[in-house]
Amino acid sequence: MIEREYSNEHRIKTIGILTSGGDAPGMNAAIRAVVRKALGNGIKVKGIKKGYQGLLNEEIIDMERHDVSDIIQRGGTILGTARCAEFRELEGQIKAAEVCRKHKIDGMVVIGGDGTYRGAIDLVGQGVNAIGVPATIDLDIACTEYTIGFDTAVNTAMEAIDKVRDTSSSHERCSIIEVMGRNAGYIALWCGVANGAEDILIPENYDFNEQTIINNIIANRKKGKTHHIIINAEGIGHSTSMARRIEAATGMETRATILGYMQRGGSPTCKDRFYASIMGAYATDILCRGVTNRVVAYRHGEFIDFDIKEALAMQKKINDYQFEVSRLLSQ
Ligand code: F6P
Repeated sequence: MIEREYSNEHRIKTIGILTSGGDAPGMNAAIRAVVRKALGNGIKVKGIKKGYQGLLNEEIIDMERHDVSDIIQRGGTILGTARCAEFRELEGQIKAAEVCRKHKIDGMVVIGGDGTYRGAIDLVGQGVNAIGVPATIDLDIACTEYTIGFDTAVNTAMEAIDKVRDTSSSHERCSIIEVMGRNAGYIALWCGVANGAEDILIPENYDFNEQTIINNIIANRKKGKTHHIIINAEGIGHSTSMARRIEAATGMETRATILGYMQRGGSPTCKDRFYASIMGAYATDILCRGVTNRVVAYRHGEFIDFDIKEALAMQKKINDYQFEVSRLLSQ
């Protein structure tokens, strides 16, 4: 439960907000929540464009209630985002803190993934309060069961895979569909189950034994299956060459489809809009109370927060039972 009151002694008067790293559907809902919650708490808000790069370049705008009207349904981020090499250097971090002081920014809400959190730690190291909000389609942040954008991305990918499946069946083909996720297999696992794929390849459990897949395709053909859908995670990759090898070994026409950036765009789902709104408001509330160096998380049905360093040190693992079930259902 978040306390609503905060002492005047360490009163935060102005907060900054930025989005950083890969964009994720729902970031706009989080921005909207931060702006409106802060204004509701009597605090000014500065929007920083293009992540940490925009902070260094002083691309800073005042944000009012109406600036976040009509954005909750939009994909991407109205603030823009970037990956910033300059900010990884100490010099850049010192400069960023100076910019914050110059613009009277007492604390920052930073929305993004692991890299964004590392940036938040660096800001805190330079005396700027910071709170992280988890946003990445990859779901690869260990301290939280939910990250902004994952739900929209898996739904987008699932719909696309259904379509590929239709044409695969008509042509009696094997389809390898590569989904995003960087080094994590969550999108692949979820789509693999939701799309009823015959094989699900995720980096966390991949044994590089292509022969098992080939045997599976041959066995399924014998059983009369007209298609074979393989969901391949980006962390394994090489879908096109894999398709060539599978076609040669099985005699079944095989196509590779790499879904790519379409998974990061589009209007956020209800879940992403709702959770992003709560997380944005939560981050603002704790920042307004003078709390710093924390990251918001969702665990066991509750919104909570962790020390950023502790959060980054946590390890995430694919749930063994879920993986086992995915294997069983795909046979
Ligand atoms: O982290 C989100 C993500 O889309 C990953 O799934 C992917 O590996 C990466 O970003 C791509 O990053 P970029 O936008 O820099 O190409």
